[in-house]
Order: sequence, then structure tokens, then C-alpha cells
Amino acid sequence: MPSEKDVLQALAGVKDPELGRDIVSLRMVDDVKVEGGKVTFTLNLTTPACPLRTRLEEAAKEAVKSIPGVEEVEMKTGSIVYATRDYANSDMLKGVKNIIAVASGKGGVGKSTVAVNLAVALAQSGAKVGILDADVYGPNIPLMMGVQGKAEVREDRIIPPIAHGVKVASLGFFYSEETAVIWRGPLVAGAVRQLLTQVEWGELDYLVCDLMPGTGDASLTLAQTVPLGGVLIVTTPQEVALNIAAKALAMFRRLNVPILGVVENMSYFVCPHCGEKTNIFSSGGGKRIAGERGVDYLGEIPLALSVREESDAGRPVVASLPDSPGAQVFKELAFRVAGMVSIVAYAKMKK
Ligand SMILES: Nc1ncnc2c1ncn2[C@@H]1O[C@H](COP(=O)(O)OP(=O)(O)OP(=O)(O)O)[C@@H](O)[C@H]1O
Ligand SMILES: [Mg+2]
Repeated sequence: MPSEKDVLQALAGVKDPELGRDIVSLRMVDDVKVEGGKVTFTLNLTTPACPLRTRLEEAAKEAVKSIPGVEEVEMKTGSIVYATRDYANSDMLKGVKNIIAVASGKGGVGKSTVAVNLAVALAQSGAKVGILDADVYGPNIPLMMGVQGKAEVREDRIIPPIAHGVKVASLGFFYSEETAVIWRGPLVAGAVRQLLTQVEWGELDYLVCDLMPGTGDASLTLAQTVPLGGVLIVTTPQEVALNIAAKALAMFRRLNVPILGVVENMSYFVCPHCGEKTNIFSSGGGKRIAGERGVDYLGEIPLALSVREESDAGRPVVASLPDSPGAQVFKELAFRVAGMVSIVAYAKMKK
């Protein structure tokens, strides 16, 4: 009859390819029980949006099945999200495990679109997610998430509304689009800090922060107010965008923010009539920049009419058209980002 030890030994032969260690020493295995020839155990992934989910689940199950005497394997899967940072010192952020910033060099490259779809895709995978709109000049996250009206304020605490399973906070809740606000540096910093520290975020696996373009006050404040888990750099393939993306990347590096990777948006256009792929803004630049800077390249997102249309209507495409090619790409990206966050968290745990 197999023993619990046999099961753990077999599972210790299964490696998480991203973290480079076996799933037992990574404490991903729990609740091992052996009753006669029947083995039950739980596999806890480091994120519900695990890019290697199926592969790991199959490998774990197979490893246990191959133990002599095992007749039946019942595997439960769950997840315990790794934390890149400990925000215990912050009243409002103490339940937050990972803050992920979405940044770019140039404006209009699709940061907000990426941030929104990333947040919703992570939430769809089962993670607890929030999105913070740190764009004080054009806070359009409420529009893209389909959130209307104002946030509820209780005793100086902002209660974030929930849309598509994601907690949303934006300065857009506090002033109307028509109001011209003159934002000087200290005001920008104050506003970003307020969203971080006055919003009742509760328990979150991921807090996605949509930044303003460039290396300005909001990005600096965010990176200097709280230690970030990592930053995702969005670029388009044109040379002008790439140059500035590289500068943004360098700034976050200087601030010791882990670079999760570079993603190239509006990479190519697929003709809805004939299916031909056109690289409107050239191609391959995002990959090149990532390679030159020694960071991961997380892929390309097509220029798709549905992405723009759904965004404008307050419906992130991963939620409204989950089977569309654009949505699929965003989901894959979200899983890669979650994987990168696990890697950063694990590297920190080892230290
Ligand atoms: N992959 C895509 N396919 C089609 N349209 C897109 C795509 N990505 C972004 N867009 C559209 O491009 C416009 C700019 O995108 P978005 O607002 O996300 O960029 P941004 O980088 O956040 O801009 P800003 O610098 O002003 O904050 C929006 O209208 C958006 O719907
Ligand atoms: Mg934006």
C-alpha cells in the first residue's frame, strides 16, 4: 500500500518550469490522504491565472498515478497567490498582495485598454482584483469599465464600486469631465497617494494601476509611495514609441521596480474580410527593445475594431466578447503577467 511519503516523493519529482523548483518544496501540495489504493491531494497554484496550469495539473496527477499500488487519484486544485510585497504598514493596502503598474513612454498606445483587460481577465481566472486609475489628466478607466456616477465615501474612506468583478477607483469619480483642473506636480502626487491610501481595497491578489504616459509625477509618486510588485511596459511598434518606451523602462529600473515585461499593442491588423495580416505600424520593435534591455517580451496584441468599440461602450472585450481573437490574446497576456508576478515574488521569498 502506498504511503503519504511515497506520494510526496512522487510529487517532488514534478517541477514548476517557471520557478525552477519542485512543487512540494514550493508548498504547492497540501492535504495528502491515502486510503488503500486511493490518493487525494490538493495542488495550490501560485496564481489562479497560472499559464502552465493544465501542464502542472496533468504532471502532478500522472506522478501520483505511477506510484505502485495507486488505483485512484483525486486531485483538487486551488491557488494561494504569492505576494511580491508586504503592505502591512499601510492601513488600506494591508490586504493587497501585488501592485502591478501599467506604463508606457508615449501616450495613446493602449495602456488603459491593456490595464482594464488585464484586470478583468485576472478576475475571471478567480483572482481578487482592483484597478486604480492614476491618470489624473484623463481618467478614463470608469468609462472603459462601464462604471457610472460617483464612489461612495464613508468616514474619509472611499468605497470602490465593482465592475466586471473588479474594484474600481479613479479620480474621475470626483470631478466631472467638463471641469478644467490645473494639475501641478504636488497635486498629482497627492491625488495618486489618496487613491492608494483612502480607498478601501480590502483583500486583493492584484491591484492593477493604470499610469499616465511617460515618466511624470504620477509614475514617480506611485513608485515612491509604495513598493511596486512590477511594471508592465506597453508600446506600439513605431520607432518613436519604442524610443520613449525604453526611457520609461529605464526610469522604473532606476526606481528598483521589477520589469514584468514589454507588450506590443496595435501590433498588426487582421482584415475582417480576407484575413490578411498587416503590420500597420511596422513590427518586431517591442521584441527588440525587450531583448536589448534584457527583459521579457510578453507578446503582441492585434489592432482590432472590437477592442476599441467594446472599450468605448464600457465593456472590456475579455468580458463582452471572450471568444474574439483580441480577447484571447488579452487573456494569454494576463496569464503571462500573473506568471511573471509569481516569479518576482518567488525570487523575493528566496532572499
Ligand atoms: N488593440 C487595440 N485595438 C483597437 N483599438 C485599440 C487597441 N488598443 C487601444 N485601442 C484604442 O486606442 C485608443 C487609445 O487607447 P488607450 O486609451 O487605452 O491608450 P492609453 O495609452 O491609455 O492613452 P493615454 O496615454 O491617453 O492614457 C482607445 O480609443 C482604445 O480603444
Ligand atoms: Mg490611458
